[in-house]
Amino acid sequence: MNYLHHYHAGNFADVLKHTLLIQLIRGLQRKERGLLYLDTHAGRGLYDLTSASQGDRLDRQPEWPQGIGRLWTASDLPSPLSEYVALVRACDAKHGGAPDSASPSRYPGSPLLAHVLARPQDRLALCELHTDEVVALRRALPPSRRPSVRELDGYSALRAMLPPLERRALVLIDPPFETQDEYANILDGLAEGLQRLPGGTFAVWYPLTERARNEDFFSGLRSLRLPPTWTVELTVADEESPLKMRGCGLLVLNPPWQIDSEIIPWLPALAELLAQYPGANADLRWLVHE
Ligand SMILES: C[S@@+](CC[C@H](N)C(=O)[O-])C[C@H]1O[C@@H](n2cnc3c(N)ncnc32)[C@H](O)[C@@H]1O
Repeated sequence: MNYLHHYHAGNFADVLKHTLLIQLIRGLQRKERGLLYLDTHAGRGLYDLTSASQGDRLDRQPEWPQGIGRLWTASDLPSPLSEYVALVRACDAKHGGAPDSASPSRYPGSPLLAHVLARPQDRLALCELHTDEVVALRRALPPSRRPSVRELDGYSALRAMLPPLERRALVLIDPPFETQDEYANILDGLAEGLQRLPGGTFAVWYPLTERARNEDFFSGLRSLRLPPTWTVELTVADEESPLKMRGCGLLVLNPPWQIDSEIIPWLPALAELLAQYPGANADLRWLVHE
């Protein structure tokens, strides 16, 4: 296993993904009926930013200062961003962070954020392939109301867990993109997921690294019979910059009704806060309009 989310935790990509995740959960919770939150690539749930700050033998440097670090003490944030920061702050405080510290010491992953937002009628299924991460994730979750954590390939979880009893689901597909076949696995997973639960909400995180791979992914998507779908893309630099990953996107199939109008207003502020080089931008683009 080469991938360690540790060094990425709280970076600009997490800021985008986790702010949108919170809005998607809130949007789906407008309906009283319970839902399944399925995290196919859950990670360890809680990241210690102080140990990541020391770097490592591979000379990886922590990325959170250019992500949550930029928002931590910012004032007058648009409300979805301030709600996100408040949730990260609550997690930090719960795990020993000083209330008024100038920077975070802990960062919650998607499972912990979903866990705090879950209502009694909601159910969480958290899948992670790597044993160390599974052990850490179980430890990060409170023993009372601990959701199911499965040591399982996330793509097979789509087959194993859909459709859920609740007939409603939010599925987060957030793989590490370490292998060449990741995009193909996502397309197969979405096809399978839509067949099993056509009305399910599927959110897929993807990096903006190589233009050709992203174009192939989007042409692959067009061969699926997509339900209403949009994507939000954030770039922190243009293609001339030295950054390997200059941006990322979150593709959402079957988003909660009209939630785009709640997301579009805060995207310019986000791009401005997270810009690293010229060319920063954030926008929402419909692939199939609702
Ligand atoms: C980007 S991280 C997940 C971060 C997490 N979703 C969050 O937002 O906090 C990707 C995770 O997928 C795990 N992983 C890699 N291949 C997997 C697979 N086939 N099935 C499930 N998990 C996998 C990695 O160990 C890593 O923890």
